[in-house]
Amino acid sequence: MMSYKVLITGASRGIGRAIALQLAKNGQYRLLLHASSASSLKELIGLLPVETEYEILPFNFANEEEVSQLIRHLKQTHKDLYAIVSNAGITRDKGLAFQPLKEIDELIQVNLKVPIQLAKAAMKIFPKNDRGVFIALSSCVAETGSAFQSVYTATKAANVSLCKSLAREAGVLHTDKLIRFISVAPGFIQTDMTNKLSEEIQQKYLRQIPSGRFGKTEEVAHAIEFLLSENASYINGSEFKINGGLL
Ligand code: NAI
Repeated sequence: MMSYKVLITGASRGIGRAIALQLAKNGQYRLLLHASSASSLKELIGLLPVETEYEILPFNFANEEEVSQLIRHLKQTHKDLYAIVSNAGITRDKGLAFQPLKEIDELIQVNLKVPIQLAKAAMKIFPKNDRGVFIALSSCVAETGSAFQSVYTATKAANVSLCKSLAREAGVLHTDKLIRFISVAPGFIQTDMTNKLSEEIQQKYLRQIPSGRFGKTEEVAHAIEFLLSENASYINGSEFKINGGLL
């Protein structure tokens, strides 16, 4: 059976972990599991079906040298890479007037510069294999905006346009190949990232969601499994929303 190698960044918990578990269950994927530390992936590894092929890639994205090491490793060792799911991300909620430059730099580094570097690696590796899928996690707030998240939302919106432009660029440079760039914009999904929001904010979001509940990580993972598959071969450049109808 065909086996597709996929890198998932931030696989230790939340949405990334659910994606890793879903692709492991699917059985067609070899997993490159990234997280900031190897120990944080222990729990996930324990949940993988025994036959799953995986490699652990511990790199701290806040550290530029470690990011370069990961990119070098991908280009040297994983020339057959089929897909990258750029999922690792951070929030630093604060009014911009009071946000330290250090936090602004962290947000831009982890949520934007790293996805750009991963997309650059994809633009080198995928054409050699005649195919590839790059998925960047954006967010519903990229479109709506969100008070006290201005830098976060700016980084997430940038991921949407990054994918649009690279879909076009791949279309110009590699028109005969099946290379796709897609952004995925979840709404309010229950993870560590959202659990730390105040009860008041959580209730405010809940009132705006037509489906009447927050999303589950598995619901994002199922959508990403589909987007990675050849059944989604004509989905390219778009922003894919998974938000229970939240506008
Ligand atoms: P989470 O906080 O539960 O997990 C984030 C992952 O990123 C973890 O695996 C963590 O280790 C990794 N990560 C964070 N900083 C890192 C660093 N410096 N170096 C290496 N890895 C690092 O987050 P969650 O909720 O699973 O979010 C995943 C993605 O989905 C993020 O990009 C987030 O912005 C996006 N998202 C999440 C939503 C939600 O409601 N949970 C809504 C919209 C978007």
